[in-house]
Amino acid sequence: MTNFQGKVAIVTGGASGIGSAITHRLLEAGVKVAVADLNEAKLKEMEDANAGNLIGVVANVTKEADIEALVKKTVEAFGSLDFAFNVAGASKAGAITEQSEEDWDFTVDLCLKSVFLSVKHEAKYMKEHGGGAIVNIASLNAHVPMFYGAAYSSAKAGVEMLTKNAALELAQHQIRVNAILPGLISTPLTSDLTKVEAINDAYMDRIPMRRAGEADEMAGPALFLVSEDASYVNGASLLVDGAWAVSGYPDLSKFM
Ligand SMILES: NC(=O)c1ccc[n+]([C@@H]2O[C@H](COP(=O)([O-])OP(=O)(O)OC[C@H]3O[C@@H](n4cnc5c(N)ncnc54)[C@H](O)[C@@H]3O)[C@@H](O)[C@H]2O)c1
Repeated sequence: MTNFQGKVAIVTGGASGIGSAITHRLLEAGVKVAVADLNEAKLKEMEDANAGNLIGVVANVTKEADIEALVKKTVEAFGSLDFAFNVAGASKAGAITEQSEEDWDFTVDLCLKSVFLSVKHEAKYMKEHGGGAIVNIASLNAHVPMFYGAAYSSAKAGVEMLTKNAALELAQHQIRVNAILPGLISTPLTSDLTKVEAINDAYMDRIPMRRAGEADEMAGPALFLVSEDASYVNGASLLVDGAWAVSGYPDLSKFM
């Protein structure tokens, strides 16, 4: 993957987990990075450790004004915008019959509306400046429902379709847009669930590789999708899930 030196990227949700792993891999490859997050203290720490190569931008990705300001600050600091990784996300779980409108809106706004706003403003800049490449983080839950995750799964399915629509509309402007669908990844987002042994065992029963992925294992696929090596990959959904998606059938190996 060769086209990284001197490029400029935005990573939303880059102060933790998958976004942080992508940010560090970009820095290693010579990319200047604007990290957008709510976690001001962590952003400051990252900025201090990478002065000149990284800016932290306190932004709420569900607010259009914050996203517009993010793109503006990125270009002011580093002179262009070549790549964007729209990673920020979280959810409020709830049974469909019990979930409040407020919790539904929180989840769908954070996971889906934020990706629309991000792609909108990132692509607006890119189409006037020769193109670029965007990666949206969806989830295996774009394809597979999850108990008490109706809002999250619906939003992630929306991210996958938004990615395809964006690829359709933006190809004419030399902008590629792809999605990554992670399976179970060890980050602060999942640690409350996986530290419960019975829940962790239930996950492991379904994941053929019998382990969660590390955040760093999302970084290579993400960088590949924006690289020249992926120059004809557009509108794609890349599952990075330890083969979880193919394990719908019960595991018969224990009976053989
Ligand atoms: N961890 C997994 O197993 C997994 C699986 C599939 C998909 N994903 C998706 O990957 C993405 C990253 O998840 P993660 O596991 O790294 O989570 P994480 O909690 O480690 O990181 C999420 C980051 O997003 C930031 N954030 C939250 N709300 C924000 C807002 N309104 N504005 C700006 N920043 C905000 C948080 O401060 C945090 O730094 C999410 O979209 C998540 O849905 C994660």
